[in-house]
Amino acid sequence: MRIGLLGCGTVGSALMALLASERDWLHERVGEELEVARILVRDPARDRGPYVDRALLTTSAEAIWSDPEIEVVVELLGPDPLARRAIVAALEAGKSVVTANKELLSTDFQVLSTLAASVGRDIFFEAAVAGGIPLVRALRVSLLGERISRVVGIINGTTNFILTRMQDHGEGFLDALSEARRLGYAEADPSGDISGRDAASKLAIIASIAFGLEVSVDDVRVEGIEGLTEADARFAERNGQVIKLLATAERTADEQGPLVHVEVAPALVDRSHPLAHVGGPDNAVYLQGGAVGQLLFQGPGAGGMPTASAVLADVIDASRNLRAGVCARALVADRGRLGGSDRKRRRFAISLDVEDRPGVLATVSQVFGRHGVSIARMEQEEMSEDSAHLVFLTHDTTLATIDATLGDVGELPVVRALHALIRVLA
Ligand code: NAP
Ligand code: HSE
Repeated sequence: MRIGLLGCGTVGSALMALLASERDWLHERVGEELEVARILVRDPARDRGPYVDRALLTTSAEAIWSDPEIEVVVELLGPDPLARRAIVAALEAGKSVVTANKELLSTDFQVLSTLAASVGRDIFFEAAVAGGIPLVRALRVSLLGERISRVVGIINGTTNFILTRMQDHGEGFLDALSEARRLGYAEADPSGDISGRDAASKLAIIASIAFGLEVSVDDVRVEGIEGLTEADARFAERNGQVIKLLATAERTADEQGPLVHVEVAPALVDRSHPLAHVGGPDNAVYLQGGAVGQLLFQGPGAGGMPTASAVLADVIDASRNLRAGVCARALVADRGRLGGSDRKRRRFAISLDVEDRPGVLATVSQVFGRHGVSIARMEQEEMSEDSAHLVFLTHDTTLATIDATLGDVGELPVVRALHALIRVLA
């Protein structure tokens, strides 16, 4: 089976190493050799280690999608517009496609899977969500008969790595981020990791499959970890909790029927909860099914080798389907509705810096009172002579109410910085 590889960075080069080290065993398992025939890169002069034959490198994507002998195209380019063009061209040329491109799938999932089905080819994307954890195939195949009611998980390795370092080792945000970049967990531009958008892209894909809905990344309410401070980590610690960036998709209902809400946000998680112990770049996802009950998937969510493992499984699956003359079915979208995040009642923690002088606490808490938000607890840390860090923990209220409250809190002259709005995992 001849394969065209688009991109040979962290994941692409790990895939090449895996194909080389497992060559004989893979031949036996697949029944034929998996041979990478061409590799698209930007810079052919760059050293890519011992597993990449320089003679295979090209800077022409067309040389891959128009090569009639290539049957499977593996797209590992990252957020470059070429990725979409190449995937469409490859499918139209009758090739099956394997991709790890969550950005693209989080907007074009339905279009691309419909195109693949219409030409009788596969588009597989196990590596796009939760790295090495076999979550996509579990949702697409094993859990097809389940009515999933809730998915909640840690699906960005970079932010989990940073939060773990901040929480458990007292490391600063920037040091932890640069280590995540060095280890190949972060995206080329890590702002998508930090802002929660990477997790939102993955959540859109998960929710599309789990709930049969067409969910785009722009449907996801997203808050990242950029506002969190070391004082917030200490607040969590004092209360027997840790802070995790959680992605949640939940089926609820209102007067007009069922609806699904999707959000990514930092959350306080009790140390007794299994998600609290998912550290480093690991990911973990809880699924609540109707018949099966609760399932937990956990494992490496980022990094070259774990991600290459997921890509390789897709390549083998696509190759087998090609030889058998079959392809996976397109996932059909229901006519469900999205929404409801803003009306769900739950607790929140709000962290902010204020002037440290008489009357400030009363001024801030009055705004909460005016919006009908009841405060369960407040903790203050002295930051400097005239500045204090506050964390307010609320009783149950709605996101819509909190948004309105924070709008007014942010206007107060005594507030120096509104840092983060943190959910509380129930
Ligand atoms: P990466 O290290 O940045 O590698 C990207 C590769 O694509 C490089 O080889 C680059 O060429 C090539 N490339 C990009 N744009 C190109 C263009 N216009 N023309 C030719 N070549 C181009 O990215 P990565 O970390 O391997 O990630 C690949 C994909 O996997 C992404 O979609 C990412 O989101 C996804 N993913 C990554 C991880 C992870 O842990 N890294 C985990 C899960 C999913 P040069 O080498 O010449 O620059
Ligand atoms: N940057 C991503 C992460 C890679 O940190 O989870 C895996 O998709």
